[in-house]
Amino acid sequence: MTARLGERIQQADWKKEKHVPVIECPDEVQAGVPFEVHVGVGKEIAHPNTTEHHIRWIGVYFQPEGGKFTYDVGRIDFNAHGESVAGPNQGPVHTGHSGTVSLTVSEPGTIYALAYCNIHGLWESSREIKLS
Ligand SMILES: [Fe+2]
Repeated sequence: MTARLGERIQQADWKKEKHVPVIECPDEVQAGVPFEVHVGVGKEIAHPNTTEHHIRWIGVYFQPEGGKFTYDVGRIDFNAHGESVAGPNQGPVHTGHSGTVSLTVSEPGTIYALAYCNIHGLWESSREIKLS
């Protein structure tokens, strides 16, 4: 039987594995008050950012505690990786693979980040958010 997509999503300690997205946000927030979630790949061990090998996007999701469904909060696309008419990696711009989304929540839950490397596939991490 074919594996489910979720079984293909890889997990690891971000301090030892360069693909795992690192989630930086408050542990506790107030209901309805905006806060920022910063996500990035390569905080401890740098990931390449070349035309051939790069992080293409990071998605952010929210799962309310006890809720049935997961909500898509936002996705940051990284679209420049040194491509140029002069050839691969000759271009003048490389998008860094980190970014920030702003959100509010009305319930406690879990923030998930999902990162996609064009060679090494899907990687996830998560972080709990409590209400104060
Ligand atoms: Fe990679």
